[in-house]
Amino acid sequence: HPWAVVFGGPSPEHEISILTGLQAERVLTSAGQKVVPIYWSPTGEWFRVPDGTEAKDYLEGAPRDSQPLEVRLSGEPGLYRRKRLGAERLELDAALLCLHGGAGEGGGAAALFSFLGVPATGSTLFAGAVGMDKLAFGGLMASAGIPSLPREAVSTLREPSFAGPYIVKPRFGGSSIGIEIADDIEAAWALAASSVHLRTGAVLEPYRPELVDLNISFRTHPELEITELEKPLRGEGGSALYSYAEKYLAGGAGSDAGLTNAPREFPAKVDARIHEAARDLAARVADVTRLTGVVRVDLLLDEASGELFVNEVNSIPGAMSLYLWAPTQPAATVLLDALVEARDKRVVF
Ligand code: DAL
Ligand code: MG
Repeated sequence: HPWAVVFGGPSPEHEISILTGLQAERVLTSAGQKVVPIYWSPTGEWFRVPDGTEAKDYLEGAPRDSQPLEVRLSGEPGLYRRKRLGAERLELDAALLCLHGGAGEGGGAAALFSFLGVPATGSTLFAGAVGMDKLAFGGLMASAGIPSLPREAVSTLREPSFAGPYIVKPRFGGSSIGIEIADDIEAAWALAASSVHLRTGAVLEPYRPELVDLNISFRTHPELEITELEKPLRGEGGSALYSYAEKYLAGGAGSDAGLTNAPREFPAKVDARIHEAARDLAARVADVTRLTGVVRVDLLLDEASGELFVNEVNSIPGAMSLYLWAPTQPAATVLLDALVEARDKRVVF
């Protein structure tokens, strides 16, 4: 049976998920794999889309000639294609989940696909949910003794235990969407009350402009493997935070050129000790979170002191992170191993 590649989904990161899904489809198809591309619309409809679509085909929703799919959770659960007489179940070996943010990355899709009887790549519902919840994840890091910055809920019921300025982030967000800097707690409260991204919960961290972002990725099948470190570079006139635009639009808005053109240093030009420490942190994050599949860990480095912190985790990293594997193996191998891991896994909850 073919593999499914699933992308889109109800999430602020919908567009990036399309880029990741289409990139995965290209990689697998080029490697001779049979792939069924499946698009989940922002409003929750499912479509089998034509092969080889491009990002621009999604500007007005599902591309032309897409076939609506039915999701059946009873009888013989599965994804069904409507036929003139009745409906036909899609027979799929496993689904590569390319869903960022929202229910997709936060464990909802893991649960849905297990109820549908389609093995899906990535983590269990519980591991995915903790990965998506910046507050829970921060608590997990603290309890495991993994260095991370203090992080608290933005709450008018309680003063934070550390002083400003602060970074205010959506508690369940991703891709830097909705992140703001607040000089003091009153400003953080005001932001949390007014921003649509922060309204479902916001977290507070100390704003330390001297820290630089570093990314590293691990995968868990056939065994735990960790990439080299990458240092994303801030654009000219650098924004204070590594922003959505810098992450995704560096190669031109609406195209997927940004997947490969975003400025970066790879491997990062940092001390060998930092590389080692980062790999050690990635292994500890893998161990304590039990995230599986292909995962990216985002770190912060104080270049003056050499101190390294785990910032957050992406249980379904964007396509731009795939190239982190390039020095050791083709992207197709990384995706196929994740699909095989899904197909053969025994634990779904
Ligand atoms: N959340 C995005 C897609 C990433 O960090 O890769
Ligand atoms: Mg993310």
